[in-house]
Amino acid sequence: MKSHSEYREMAERVLPGGALGTRLSPEGLRWTIASASGSRITDVDGNEWIDYICGAGALILGHQHPAVVEAVQQQASRSMHQYGNLSDIAIELAAMVVDAIPGAERMIFTTTGSEATFYAMRAARAATGRTKILKFEGAFHGNHDYASVAVTPAEPSPYPRGMSFTSGAPQAAIDTVLIAPYNDPERLRQIATEHADDLAGIIIEPVQRIISPQPGFLQGVRSLCDELGTVLIFDEVVTGFRLAYGGAQEFFRVQADLAAYAKIVGGGGPVGCVVGKADLVDQAHPARSGNPGFVYASGTLHGNPLGAAAGLATLRELTTPGFYENLNDRTARLSEDIEGVLESHGRQAIVETVGSMWQILHMDESPRKYTDLLAADRSANVAFDTELLRQGINTIPGLRRFVSSAHTDQDFQETLEAVDRVCKIMKDRSED
Ligand SMILES: Cc1ncc(COP(=O)(O)O)c(C=O)c1O
Repeated sequence: MKSHSEYREMAERVLPGGALGTRLSPEGLRWTIASASGSRITDVDGNEWIDYICGAGALILGHQHPAVVEAVQQQASRSMHQYGNLSDIAIELAAMVVDAIPGAERMIFTTTGSEATFYAMRAARAATGRTKILKFEGAFHGNHDYASVAVTPAEPSPYPRGMSFTSGAPQAAIDTVLIAPYNDPERLRQIATEHADDLAGIIIEPVQRIISPQPGFLQGVRSLCDELGTVLIFDEVVTGFRLAYGGAQEFFRVQADLAAYAKIVGGGGPVGCVVGKADLVDQAHPARSGNPGFVYASGTLHGNPLGAAAGLATLRELTTPGFYENLNDRTARLSEDIEGVLESHGRQAIVETVGSMWQILHMDESPRKYTDLLAADRSANVAFDTELLRQGINTIPGLRRFVSSAHTDQDFQETLEAVDRVCKIMKDRSED
């Protein structure tokens, strides 16, 4: 194996910024990861971090869970790729997913979460004969043009319009996306009813990043969709199999028409899916191909057996009685303990927590919508999290983090000690 600096040189030559995706850590905090196990990741030089990124939430069992590794190894020796024929393992996973999700009747495979939200939007347009999709300001639904609007705007959006976060997205696509503030039922109703004639669907992250829905908000969105004949799409890419086995639909007791999944459903492998009512999902029925009303949904990696093996092994573990109670309770305790440390240093910050997701936010009370986060001291969040990285805690600065079932009490203790050190460092810095 080469050294970290040799890998950096290689990466910088061939990858923009020597980086993966949009994450460019400060110099000195760009690692080359060699391996991972349980709650920990290790770089090529042997340094170790406690990992709270957990595959952006995909690894609810932690890294290299023995059941997942064994399933993938066995599958690799049987068949790594099938196209045009369903594999036994893909059928098993599909059945397990449909059985797990409240109200689900059918699913189609995708490779990623982005693809799942893209197909869900397409299916909503096809079913209604309408064009527009309403999304919420600050919500993330992936990398495609329709998801790119009003994701991380620096200023509040001019509702119902929003700016795309990427160049190259056609204005015609951006113009089909309506933007409303999350947790604001009145504004949502006003925008949705104004565009009702052409509103195909409303897509929502049931927990928007780390912002919880206000009591009744999701139920209100459900009723509004029924009233306007609009398709309700839950983006469960993060919340699916995370908040509960039946995802946010079970956790908040609200049923969507379509739901997009990825991450945990693939156990860390390339698997996503769109799940929902038969009449909507069956628009992708192959026998309809070439006819009006057919929704194209196909890809070389769909139902990939290696990903399906990882997903199936993961979901089986999640059916262990008490799995979610235990994970969510342990996360709540960690958050309380972190809040205690922050308080002991007089730091004006809260630990926002939903299920097994948490984030330190430098604000006085829980955010209700994206603009609350804009108004808060975001640079303090990033500075604090960046310092946590230096102290051995792997997070993406300014983003929510995940607890897995592999995190131990020892990990939590070390996390608290790291938070304590960071509080002292930040205090010293502000007094300089
Ligand atoms: C809520 C949500 N939707 C969609 C996506 C896109 O998923 P993917 O990265 O698998 O394309 C993500 C990714 O983080 C996500 O968090």
